[in-house]
Amino acid sequence: MKTKFSTINLLSELDKSENSSFLAEFTDIHYPKNNLIYSPGHDKDLVFIVKKGRLRLYLAVEDKEFSLAILEPGDIYATHTRAHVQTLEDVTLMVIPTGKLHSYMTTHPALSKTIISVLGELLKQSFSIIDSLVFKDIKQRLTDFFIYEATHNGHPGSRGIKVQLDLSTTQLAAIVGASRQTTSTIVSAMLKEGILQKADRNVYIIPNIDLLRNYAHT
Ligand code: HEM
Repeated sequence: MKTKFSTINLLSELDKSENSSFLAEFTDIHYPKNNLIYSPGHDKDLVFIVKKGRLRLYLAVEDKEFSLAILEPGDIYATHTRAHVQTLEDVTLMVIPTGKLHSYMTTHPALSKTIISVLGELLKQSFSIIDSLVFKDIKQRLTDFFIYEATHNGHPGSRGIKVQLDLSTTQLAAIVGASRQTTSTIVSAMLKEGILQKADRNVYIIPNIDLLRNYAHT
């Protein structure tokens, strides 16, 4: 994950003498490392600029965490989002109420440019998260399909359960609702990892059904 998003240094922009009254609107706050400092639904709507230290942004869904970005000095973020904000080091933030910052947006283009860079990184990371979740879901549907075939139409033998599919990759892809390419990537990985073995054209052997059952979670 890229850590420094913007080529503009918001901190040196704010240090310029013409920005002294704007700078005076911010309050410095210190937080120790490894602390969850803002969670969704935080009671104050604030924007902060990182002055010192690094922070991690992440989404928490049920028991999973999805990292969105690492913020570094000069980066900007806000408390009114669904992301959690955790300090990775001792940090100093320059904090301002969101409404107050709004009035400075038009006169300080460095703000919008930095916000766009940070949001761009969040969007990129969000796309990757969606990709990996969709991939996991297809993996699950494929393993479910092979388990179904093994238990209903499989022939147990000395090497494992033999499954005769009589399906092309395109047909298999249509059954699990994925593209041909993704289906073939996952089947190839299953063959490589020994979860499946190929006995013949369209004939597979499942050496260990429990390994297959766990496969989607690996
Ligand atoms: C000028 C100051 C800002 C104003 C007036 C503003 C306003 C808003 C508003 C009205 C929303 C929609 C909230 C809702 O749906 O309840 C929003 C969402 C959002 N804002 Fe801001 N914002 C500001 C600064 C920032 C900054 C500096 C960042 C980060 C770089 C940011 C990141 C976001 C994100 C990620 C969301 C989506 C939240 C979610 O759905 O999880 N905002 N903002």
